[in-house]
Amino acid sequence: MRRAAIIGWGDYTPPAVLTNTDLASVIDTNDEWIRSRSGIKERRISHVPNSDMATAAARQALASADLSAADMDLIIVATCSPDRAIPSVAAYVQRELGGLGATMDLNAACSGFVYGLSVANGMIAAGTVDKALIIGAERLSAFLDLTDRSTAVLFGDGAGAVVVEASDGPEGLLSSNLHSDGSLTEILTIRGAGTESVFDHDVPTTVDMEGREVFRNAVTRMGEGAIVAVENAGLALEDIDVLISHQANIRIIDATARRLNIDPDTVYTNIHAYGNTSAASIPIALSEALDQGAISPGDLVAMVAFGGGLTWGAAMVRWGERTTRLRRVDHELPGTDKTGLELLAARTQGLGLE
Ligand code: UT7
Repeated sequence: MRRAAIIGWGDYTPPAVLTNTDLASVIDTNDEWIRSRSGIKERRISHVPNSDMATAAARQALASADLSAADMDLIIVATCSPDRAIPSVAAYVQRELGGLGATMDLNAACSGFVYGLSVANGMIAAGTVDKALIIGAERLSAFLDLTDRSTAVLFGDGAGAVVVEASDGPEGLLSSNLHSDGSLTEILTIRGAGTESVFDHDVPTTVDMEGREVFRNAVTRMGEGAIVAVENAGLALEDIDVLISHQANIRIIDATARRLNIDPDTVYTNIHAYGNTSAASIPIALSEALDQGAISPGDLVAMVAFGGGLTWGAAMVRWGERTTRLRRVDHELPGTDKTGLELLAARTQGLGLE
């Protein structure tokens, strides 16, 4: 059966760091609370548009597969923080890197990368696509509200990307399981970033979240998704070699692993360094896990995600023979001499940061 095999990977995490201590200097929080409740120590704040981060991660992924954008039949960017309503972030990536394949953004919030992988796999199985770039890229710092300590400490910016190609071999996406419960739209939302705000200027452009409800649903739903996906692949939970979960909260990741009875040693996490980067979190974690040797040839890699919608999804990927990059490229983006806190100034009028 024709399916999508991952043959390239890359990531871009902005250089400007925002630590818990930085946040505690401007809002009523502290390092101990953030670390113990979420596992986050610091996050990155972007000095460039989301599409630049997406392009940087894509450039690495293409080099890693030794391919160019002209080889791609499809570019999907999973994001809920696009530069503009039109064009898509994917179109910007193509503008920078070239090619004439299809481009589209996909918004399934933090589940976007797993959704994107599944959509590309479906198009590969149908024979309409041979090679695709799937990118998760988010600039959630644009939506941070430093007057809301329950959300401001959780999110960060970044991008991760993979290149997939059609394979008839054992490697590739064995199964995926995607869901959404639309009755839960209001427990995780960003109100003022859509057309609503054109008509109502009072709508705040910030994350609004019922943390405990999201937490409860996340653990249950990611667990259910993983069980169905692994069964549909004709495998068992104990066959999972590496679990890469959406990095939203270390307690959610640990609880999901416990629910699935998965050995903690198989769980890859990097939430301490980047916070919750939404659709970017799984491809960043995947790229780092590969570069750190945490994935071996033939491994069964389980990816599980949940996010606003409430969406959730799971994907079971059989890794191929290659776990090292064919080529490496340096990022071409300009650096910044600003700190994460300074970059947040635009969002923090009245809080003494400008
Ligand atoms: O990608 C999907 C995105 N969202 C998520 O994954 C979020 C899922 N939910 C969570 O991760 C957790 O619910 C949070 C990390 C958001 C919150 O952790 P919690 O253990 O559920 O805390 P809580 O909301 O029950 O708040 C406990 C206390 C409250 O004080 P009182 O009422 O007990 O006095 C909060 O006001 O902690 C207080 N609190 C804080 N204290 C210091 C809330 N935020 C902070 C903060 N610093 N940043």
